[in-house]
Amino acid sequence: MAAPTPTVPIIRRDTDRDLLRQAPKHGRLELRSATLGNVKIKFLLAAGLLVCIGLSLYYADLLKAAFTVNPIPKSPESIARGKSIFERDCVVCHGAGGHGDGVAAASLPARPKDLSKLAPPPIFPDGVIAYRIANGKNLMPAWKTMLSDNDRWDLINFIRSLAVSSTK
Ligand code: HEC
Repeated sequence: MAAPTPTVPIIRRDTDRDLLRQAPKHGRLELRSATLGNVKIKFLLAAGLLVCIGLSLYYADLLKAAFTVNPIPKSPESIARGKSIFERDCVVCHGAGGHGDGVAAASLPARPKDLSKLAPPPIFPDGVIAYRIANGKNLMPAWKTMLSDNDRWDLINFIRSLAVSSTK
């Protein structure tokens, strides 16, 4: 097989040069529009880059949360602490078993999801639950200022124990 010969680009370049020589005005116009095209592409690239940076800043906390490891072992003591916080702060909406059937749930436009059926990690990592509890979402209140980090991990250990006890 013979290697492909680069005849086409050479011919094109020659033709372009001929055209430029024959019609300098036309050539200048074309040059100008080529530069404009370049500027437009650069603008689009810059805009795309800005959007990417914006998105990653916006989701940075969530991304970081996804890789945050629960520092508190799922011990009976932690689960018991989580249970008592849950009974104090969360049961009104989420119900004692986390099924989304608390007394206040009926008045909510959308019932909270069943916490005993939360997907296990790595689909729904502990860190993301911690993020949800800390920052809230729609009608779910944010607990960042009300609960300490350790309170939140205890709650998560309790919530995880709901799934275990409901599959048994
Ligand atoms: C005022 C009622 C209310 C209270 C109180 C409340 N929640 Fe929620 N929670 C909700 C609602 C509603 C949602 C669903 C939010 C959505 O996705 O729109 C939710 C969602 C969640 C989720 C995310 C579930 C998912 O599938 O994304 C977690 C985890 C959670 N709540 C934990 C808690 C914990 C822990 C507490 C107590 C510290 C608590 N909630 C207190 C109403 C409440």
